Amino acid sequence: MARRYFTTPIYYVNDRPHIGHLYTTVVTDTLARYFRQQGEDVRFLTGTDEHGQNIAKVAKKEGVAPIVVADRHAPTFRNLWKEFGISNDDFIRTTEPRHRAGVEEIIRRIDAAGDFYTAGHEGWYCANCEAFYPEKDLVLGNCPVHGFKAEWQREENVFFRLSKYGPRLLELFERGVEGKPFVFPESRLNEVRSFVESGLKDLSVSRTTISWGIPFPGRPGHVVYVWLDALVNYITALGFGSRDLSLYERYWPGIHVIGKDILRFHAVYWPAFLMSAGLPIPRQVVSHGWWLRDARKMSKSTGNVVRPDDLVAAFGVDALRWHLVSAMSFGQDANFSDEDFLAGYNADLANGLGNTLSRAVKMASDAFGGKTPAETCDDNEVRTAAIDAVAAWTSAFESYRLHDAAAAVRTLVTRIDGYIASREPWKKVKAEGVTPALHRIHYATLEGLRVAACMLAPIAPGTATEVFRRLGIARSAEDLRPPDLVWGQLPLNASLPQAPPLFPRADAKEYFASKEKSVVDETTAPEAAPSSPSQQIPSSSETKIPIDDFLKLDLRVGEVIAAEKIEKSKKLMKMTVKIGEEVRTIVGGIAATYTAEQLVGRKFVFVANLAPAKLMGVESDGMILAATLPETGEPSLLMVDPAVPSGAKVK
Ligand code: ME8
Ligand code: MG
Repeated sequence: MARRYFTTPIYYVNDRPHIGHLYTTVVTDTLARYFRQQGEDVRFLTGTDEHGQNIAKVAKKEGVAPIVVADRHAPTFRNLWKEFGISNDDFIRTTEPRHRAGVEEIIRRIDAAGDFYTAGHEGWYCANCEAFYPEKDLVLGNCPVHGFKAEWQREENVFFRLSKYGPRLLELFERGVEGKPFVFPESRLNEVRSFVESGLKDLSVSRTTISWGIPFPGRPGHVVYVWLDALVNYITALGFGSRDLSLYERYWPGIHVIGKDILRFHAVYWPAFLMSAGLPIPRQVVSHGWWLRDARKMSKSTGNVVRPDDLVAAFGVDALRWHLVSAMSFGQDANFSDEDFLAGYNADLANGLGNTLSRAVKMASDAFGGKTPAETCDDNEVRTAAIDAVAAWTSAFESYRLHDAAAAVRTLVTRIDGYIASREPWKKVKAEGVTPALHRIHYATLEGLRVAACMLAPIAPGTATEVFRRLGIARSAEDLRPPDLVWGQLPLNASLPQAPPLFPRADAKEYFASKEKSVVDETTAPEAAPSSPSQQIPSSSETKIPIDDFLKLDLRVGEVIAAEKIEKSKKLMKMTVKIGEEVRTIVGGIAATYTAEQLVGRKFVFVANLAPAKLMGVESDGMILAATLPETGEPSLLMVDPAVPSGAKVK
């Protein structure tokens, strides 16, 4: 039996997961489910990356031990994956003893190969990436990924002789593995190839500046560099470094699904470590693009993230799974917007699958006394469409075009819908009664939907199982095999249950109105001022916060360079604000008190690191500060001496 071992990155535990992490995990789950459905022996690993400066920093800020931070966030990831039906077989945390044992083992092997030496080292370091960058890669002194200031770090480190592996890596890129390119997509293979061709420097693989990590064997005072530590998870989770190597022998080498941000680590460093240790290199590194927000990578360190919570609460897990898989061309970047989500939801799920299924089931049920048809039909356009769709779906999955696999489901449903429209069974039953021809028409539609559900199963398993149930089939998405895709398996005369709409249509206007209302309630007090403010606004706060909490706020002086009232709103003012060199749009609930002219050219205090929020359809990237007048609840803006330059920090 063919075997396949899929992994996701292990995520840092310095924050809660966002749409980006969810994406990688959902697409990997979709791939794992697809190949299981194809009858392969699949193993699927995910987990959390818990050592390193990133986590140590957060812990220090909070004044707790790093493991406390890790113990808090690791379950957040684990639980989210459960909620999303992620079918991982294991979840590894790098703070587990089984992991440490494997890291020590690979280090022993690399050491035995003579690939470590100790030397002084300094350079520009991004703590978010946990990586040194050559000066030429910095963008105005900032990390090219996160845009934060890189820090100059100097220390004595253990080095890995990465430079030695250039030729073997280039050979690997040239040759590929098992006839497939080592990196997907090939454009990214070219990127890492040029990186290696431009000359590899040895890599520092220990740290003495922090103590949160795995102690480096034989180097007191050093901990293992977090990336060497983290990458090894892919084999320690299979028992590498332990006495029981059965999983390791059965599943390694694996296929790593990652975001393009960590390609170099997976396609250059990781194979080099493995080569040095004399271990098999991965079968493939599959890298996808970024979900963007405002044309920037969505990232917890930039703060511009979308969390899955709201969308899931309103539309369910599978709606989001479907959107993530279908709306991003796998490998490319894509912009995440609620508008796109809702449009796709209504088109594909509410109108598409949901509506077609309800109509088809209702018509059959009405015609055949609550049952599926009593006759099969092998000769109709739906069958042809289903055969084409299954072929397109299979080839899409085999070449990581997951969005095309989703599109194949969409196309089949559209064809079924078109078939119903052209056959007009509702007219036929009136004119001719329940004829064998009517049985055959309904057989074609319901059987077509059964095949569509099989194709949907890896992407939205819960929905697939529910579609089966509504077609009178007792099957679950988890136990499908290739024969299930073959036409002609709808049970005859099976009972059809009654059911509410599968995906109720979303009213986009209503959704945004309720979302805006909650945002306005939270962020712009004046718009939602309580009716008797003097009673409700406390004069001082009861709870005291530590200074560190206050320092989380990035308060800045900004100059309003343009302003206009938002038409549909009583109180919202849209302002274009210059904060230092940066220009952004900030919406505030001040238009009932201030006119645009009163604002333009003046400087106020802004919260610069607030997560962006949509207010009446306008994305606000920050907040203007105002005192609230006790009697009326009216805002009074905090003004700044005109001599203070815009961008100045307020604390
Ligand atoms: O890098 N769009 O962890 P991490 C798409 N611990 N995917 C995104 C994304 C976005 N905007 N943001 C994050 C680490 N991701 C290391 C990995 S592996 C041995 C160690 C996804 O928490 C994407 O898969 O920063 C990316 O590679 C990963 O999260 C980075 O997660
Ligand atoms: Mg990251």
